[in-house]
Amino acid sequence: MAMAVLAHTQVLLPLYAYPGGAQMSPEWQAAVNAISNNSVLHFFVVINPNNGPQTSSDTANSGQCTAPSDPNYVEHGCNLDWTTNVDKINALPNAQTIGYVRTGYGTRSASDVKADITKWAAWNTANTWVAGRTANIKIHGIWFDETGTSKGNLTHYKDIITFANASFQAKGTQPSADLFSMATAVVLRETCWTDVSTGAQGDCPEPYTAFNYKTLSSGSGLPYDASLISKSAVIVHRFHRPPTANNETLQEQLLGIAGLGLHSTYFTSGNRKTTIATPATIGAFSEFLTKATQ
Ligand SMILES: *[C@@H]1O[C@H](CO)[C@@H](O)[C@H](O)[C@H]1NC(C)=O
Ligand SMILES: *[C@@H]1O[C@H](CO)[C@@H](O)[C@H](O)[C@H]1NC(C)=O
Ligand SMILES: *[C@@H]1O[C@H](CO)[C@@H](O)[C@H](O)[C@H]1NC(C)=O
Ligand SMILES: *[C@@H]1O[C@H](CO)[C@@H](O)[C@H](O)[C@H]1NC(C)=O
Repeated sequence: MAMAVLAHTQVLLPLYAYPGGAQMSPEWQAAVNAISNNSVLHFFVVINPNNGPQTSSDTANSGQCTAPSDPNYVEHGCNLDWTTNVDKINALPNAQTIGYVRTGYGTRSASDVKADITKWAAWNTANTWVAGRTANIKIHGIWFDETGTSKGNLTHYKDIITFANASFQAKGTQPSADLFSMATAVVLRETCWTDVSTGAQGDCPEPYTAFNYKTLSSGSGLPYDASLISKSAVIVHRFHRPPTANNETLQEQLLGIAGLGLHSTYFTSGNRKTTIATPATIGAFSEFLTKATQ
């Protein structure tokens, strides 16, 4: 994914929850509130309508896009629910929308991946639920999910990242100057906090090592090359007990992560579709990360 390298640890928020319609969903509203209330943090917000930007009824995708049978179908983001609410995120000065692209651990073809990138780069303006209100639905980078790490995959990923760079540079419509000093950040660890198996597919692929920043070490959660720490991210799902999961342990983890100088992080007490489960609500997480980075 293409993202700015910043001086302190920022937020990498996979906002996979449904956005709601004219009335924003509670999950998106909580995210908008947290972004507004924590202006010292920069939020990279991953937008994902349908396992990517697909707007056709692709049966291979289990997302919520029912286009083109949806009577509210619009070309970008399936329907007016997405355009109306992506616009609200884009209106926040410290948020940057990033488009989700599935890469299938190197098994999805370069042409399919590039087709998704081209779709994201084409998001510009669209109608909303508010008559006469045109949405800004621009997307500012790409989040590549299901990244293959085998040596043989390197050429493939270099090819698609070069394509993504060129697609977004060609747009030339970035809202802030530093966006084009963008560098690629890599999620080094995406796992769960609880040490009891959740059986939840995808959240923390089994078997997993329960997260604790104290267990991160060079080559295991952190890159061997220390100069890459500022380009590394960690995402933690299922922040609930056991072990103890409360405001104190959340603050301790965020202080530890900020102290390591990681690029970005995100904690949730649920999965990537939840921002409001306690204790790691998006509000509490953002408040504590703000404190940890000051
Ligand atoms: C965050 O922002 C929302 C709306 O902007 C406001 O209602 C809420 O009280 C704020 N919360 C905190 C903890 O500041
Ligand atoms: C990436 O690696 C996986 C696993 O080794 C392999 O199945 C896949 O074909 C590779 N993809 C490319 C484009 O080389
Ligand atoms: C993509 O662009 C960024 C920022 O210019 C750069 O750091 C990165 O090396 C580029 N990646 C590729 C594969 O071209
Ligand atoms: C945890 O912190 C959040 C954010 O400050 C606060 O709203 C909540 O009441 C706290 N919970 C407890 C149990 O102290």
